[in-house]
Order: sequence, then structure tokens, then C-alpha cells
Amino acid sequence: MAAAAGLALARAAGRLGARGALQRSLAGGAAAGAGAASGGGGRGGGGAGARWVRRGALVAGGAAAGVGALVWSVGGQEGPPVSLHFRLAGGAAGLLRLMDAEDAHTLSVWAAARGLAPVHTEADPPVLACSPWGRRLTNPVGLAAGYDKGGECPGAMLRMGFGLVELGSVTPEPQPGNARPRIFRLHCKGGPEIAVVNRCGFNSEGLAVVGERLRAQGLEGGPGRPRGVLEGGGLVGVNLGKNKLSKDALEDYRAGVRALAPCAGYMVVNVSSPNTPGLRALQGRRRLAHLLRGVKEELARAVPDPAERPPLLVKVAPDLTQQERRDIATVAMSVGVDGMVVSNTTVGRPDGLALVCANGQEMGGLSGTPLMEPSTECLRDMYRLTKGKLLLVGVGGIASGEDAYRKIRAGASLVQLYTALAFKGPGLVPRIKRELAELLERDGFSSVEQAVGADHRQK
Ligand SMILES: Cc1cc2nc3c(=O)[nH]c(=O)nc-3n(C[C@H](O)[C@H](O)[C@H](O)COP(=O)(O)O)c2cc1C
Repeated sequence: MAAAAGLALARAAGRLGARGALQRSLAGGAAAGAGAASGGGGRGGGGAGARWVRRGALVAGGAAAGVGALVWSVGGQEGPPVSLHFRLAGGAAGLLRLMDAEDAHTLSVWAAARGLAPVHTEADPPVLACSPWGRRLTNPVGLAAGYDKGGECPGAMLRMGFGLVELGSVTPEPQPGNARPRIFRLHCKGGPEIAVVNRCGFNSEGLAVVGERLRAQGLEGGPGRPRGVLEGGGLVGVNLGKNKLSKDALEDYRAGVRALAPCAGYMVVNVSSPNTPGLRALQGRRRLAHLLRGVKEELARAVPDPAERPPLLVKVAPDLTQQERRDIATVAMSVGVDGMVVSNTTVGRPDGLALVCANGQEMGGLSGTPLMEPSTECLRDMYRLTKGKLLLVGVGGIASGEDAYRKIRAGASLVQLYTALAFKGPGLVPRIKRELAELLERDGFSSVEQAVGADHRQK
């Protein structure tokens, strides 16, 4: 709706002859909420009447953002278009929080897939350049799995400024996931402002649909361009899940590899979502070793040339005992995976969150700022247990450049976020990159790669 309002206004603006900057601005305003949508709203209730009131407010808000852009633009003010674009996006992000969380999320992905997300046109600071697995990225800041489950808008998210985007989780067969509402924004009196509980349960369109979509976007690569990389650069990874009713987890992940390895810049075996019964038990020592060995063999069959083969990662939960962490680190090293994503959402509720936050008692995985400490502690352990030899992706609670920097110093070569983007809007991406570059330079690092695991070297 906001997108439609934005588009209608953009067309009108075109007729008024103010096309260029204005259309870009409106696109930003419309897609803006993109991020915001997914985490926001959340209560899901309120009945049809209340929902229509919220939707009405959204349309009005989108129109207001559009008119604001029109006035700004026609008023002849000069300024970097990208800033306005991202500012409008931030405003629309707030408006989209009036919607049901999942409706807003769907709208945001829809808008981004149609080129309505803001574009970060400034070059990334050279200090952020990095080369995970030998693939050159202009920055290490990624979009976490769960936002673009169906691979609808990886290009738009890379253009928004992310250095990498993780699609999925994708299950072999299509499945609806859990009943709605299943995404809840937490409302905390004096508590964290950025927190979500979700129990989506792997709602997925399935491998066939997603594979077709990725091929249509050119992710199979081409002359001079490896698989999982889009025209403008940036890495696209694919996160694999299993079907709820499947009895053979290994076969599910193998099917994922067969179908999507041809389009993936890297692949993630997700054994840590809390919303699929029995999934996290796959993190146990024996079962994980069996699973990862089998998936690795399948990947070697699917992509025989090691130079072309996408790196294989495993995504773990933050709610692991010390013994489980040791076991997972040992298995990951002995099987020889290429990295670990640390971490998924937590089933824990730190600091009595369930008591002080409305929706805090909802069942599901908690993400956002309350996850920052536990997931970073898990990351720190994994770096120590793998002796810094395994590439780690730090995810959980990142909402600023400083958070990203803390993950990197704790051992992350790459970082990812999702929930904070939903609350703060697309402007967060350039902000995190700018802040991270400043912190690296302040501490005398000439490259982000030098800072990886820095905390461990000081002790
Ligand atoms: C609504 C929602 C859906 C998610 N879906 C997935 C998923 O399908 N697969 C997965 O590996 N992680 C999923 N995640 C977890 C995120 O990838 C990430 O690990 C977690 O949210 C912590 O990061 P954050 O605090 O920046 O959000 C989801 C998170 C949210 C909020």
C-alpha cells in the first residue's frame, strides 16, 4: 500500500517533470519500511477493524512521505539524494510498524523486489574490504537469514549496502510454517527497544520455486562471474532447513544442496531454529558429524570442482552448554566445514524479559538487542575452541557499528543482522558501516580483517 501510494505519487511527479531525484526519494519512502515491517507490529491481534485502521494509517503515512518528498524536491533544495532517500526510508519504517508484523514484512519484500528500496551509492570505506574464502567483498556486514526466505530481493538488499545476503531458510517441499500470528514485536517498559520473538516454523516456498527464482536472477553465475554473486558484486548465501514432517534430516539437506548449490555463494546448514521440533537435537556430537559429513559429500558431488564449490557453514544456537560448544567445535573442525554462523535466536529470556515485556512470554526464538550478549559470548567461545581457524559469522543483536565491532573483535570475520534493520530502517546499513570504519581507524587497524579476534590476542 505504501509502495503503491509511493508509485502513484512518483508517476504524478514524473508528469510534473520532477522525475529523477523525486522518484528515487519516493521509492525510498515506499520501500523504507521494508526492514521495519518485518520486526514491527507484532501483536497481530486487534481484529479486522483495527487492522483496517492501521492500514489506513499506513496509506496516509506513505502518501504523506511522498508529498513530503515532492515538496522537498520541488522546493529546489540541494543535497545528496542518497541521504534523503534513506531518511525517507527511515520515516516509512516507523509507519510500517503500525501494520501487523508479517503483513508489513511481506510488503517490504514485495517493494524491495520491485526496485523500491533505497540504494547506497557511496563507495564503502577501504578499511571494510575483506576476502572471506577468497571472495572479495567491499564490506563484511550482511543481512541474516529469515528476511528474504524465498530469494525475492537479494539484489535490492545488496544495493541497500549489505556486503552479503543470506537467503532462506528454504525447505525441500513447500510448507506453510506455524499458524499466525507468529512474529511478535516486544513492548518493554524501560527494557530493550529492539526485540522480536518469532515462531515462523520454516514457512517456505520450497526448493523448486526458490531455485527457479535464483536462476532467473542470474545467480548461477556466468562468464567472469562466480555463482552466488550478482552483477554489482556482493555475496549471496543460501540457508537450508528441513521439512517439519520429514523423517530423514540428512536427505532434506542433501536435496537442498542438489537444488541450490549451483546458485549459492555459500551454503548454511541450519540446525538451530527453535521452531521446528527436533531440529536443534541435530547439534549433538554424533548426529552433527553424520549430518555434516553427508552434506559435504553431497556438495562435492553437486559441484565437483573445488574451486567452484560454495563454502559450507553450519548455523548454531546460542543456548548451548559448554560441553555442547566443545562438541560442535570439534565436529566442525574434524569434518572440515568452511565456517560457522553464531548464532540463531535464543529460547532464553535474558534479564527477566518475559516479565517486563509485553509479548515476552510468547513461545519462539528471541532476537534483537537482548541477544547481543549471549550470542557474542557463544561466538567468543567458538573462536577460542576453533583456535581462530574457522571462519565465524557473528549474528545476534547488532544494532550499531559498535555492536558489529564487538563481534569482530570477539572472532567474527563477517557479521549479520536482521531485527535492528526492521526497527531502524535501511539507513542503519550505511550507519553501521560508517561507525565500524571509524572504530577500526580509531584503534589503528588498516583493515577489518586485522581486527578479527583482537580481544583474544590482548589476553
Ligand atoms: C522473523 C525472523 C525469521 C527468521 N527466520 C530464520 C530462518 O528462516 N533461518 C535462520 O537461520 N534464521 C532465521 N532467523 C534468525 C536470524 O537469521 C538471526 O540469526 C537472528 O534473528 C539474530 O539476529 P538479529 O538479532 O540481528 O535479528 C529469523 C529471525 C527472525 C526475527
